[in-house]
Amino acid sequence: RPTQSSRSRHIVITAGPTREALDPVRYLSNHSSGKMGYALAGAAARTGARVSLISGPVNLPTPAGVERIDVDSAAQMHSAAQRLAQGADIFIGCAAVVDFRVEMPAEHKIKKRQNEDSLTLILVKNPDIIADIAALPTASRPLVVGFAAETQDVEHYARDKLARKGLDMIVANDVSQAGGVFGSDDNAAWLLWKTPDGQASEALPSQPKTRLASDIIQRALNLLAFGETP
Ligand code: PMT
Repeated sequence: RPTQSSRSRHIVITAGPTREALDPVRYLSNHSSGKMGYALAGAAARTGARVSLISGPVNLPTPAGVERIDVDSAAQMHSAAQRLAQGADIFIGCAAVVDFRVEMPAEHKIKKRQNEDSLTLILVKNPDIIADIAALPTASRPLVVGFAAETQDVEHYARDKLARKGLDMIVANDVSQAGGVFGSDDNAAWLLWKTPDGQASEALPSQPKTRLASDIIQRALNLLAFGETP
C-alpha cells in the first residue's frame, strides 16, 4: 500500500506512566519512560496529522508539531482523553496507566509509627481509559489502538485485551526482560487487528522505537482508510 498521508486527520496518543499519590510526597507508578508514545506522536505528526499527546510525567522533549497535554494521575489522563478523543480519527493508548489508586491519599506526609511494622493501603481500581474511548457512540468514536505489555503468553493476553476492551488493533510487546522495553530505545511488537471476517496479525521485529512507531502509524492509517492493513 502507498504511504498514507493524513493532513486532515486528528490523532490522539497517551504516553508515559501515571502517578497515583499516597501523600503529598509519595506515589505509585511504573517504569514507562514515554519513549514509545513520544515516538508515535512524532511519527504521526510527520504524516501531516494534527496530533494531541496526553503525557504522564516523563523527561522527554515534545516532538515537533505536536500539541502536548501534561497530566499526572490516571483520573486526569482519563478526563483529557474523554475531552480530546471524541470526534478524533485515531486514539492510541500507549500509556502505562497505573491500574489502582490509593482510595484516600493522606493530606500530610505519612509518618512512621513506633511499634507498627506494616502499613495498610486500600487501593481502588482506576477507570479504563481506552475501554471508555472504545465504548463511545459510533459517530464520535475514533479508531482505537491499544498496547499490551505482557510478561508471558503475549498472544493470548493480547487477543483477550483486544476483545475485552473493544479495540480495533492491539500492539503487544513482551516486557519480561529486565531493561527490555521500558525505557529502552528499541522494541519489537506483535500486531493484532480486527478485519471484516475475523482477525489478522503481523510480527514487527526489534528495531528503534522511532521506526517501529512509523510502521504502527501506517498500519493504523491503513485500517482507518481501507478497513484492513497489509
Ligand atoms: O514508555 P516506554 O519506556 O517507551 O515503554 C513503552 C511501554 C512498555 C509502556 C509501551 O510499549 C506499552 O506497552 N504500553 C502499554 C502498557 C500497559 O499498561 O499495558 P496494559 O496491558 O496494562 O494495558 C493495556 C491497554 O489498556 C494499554 O493500551 C493501556 O494504555 C490501556 N489502559 C490500561 C489501564 C487503564 N486503566 N486504562 C487504560 O487505558
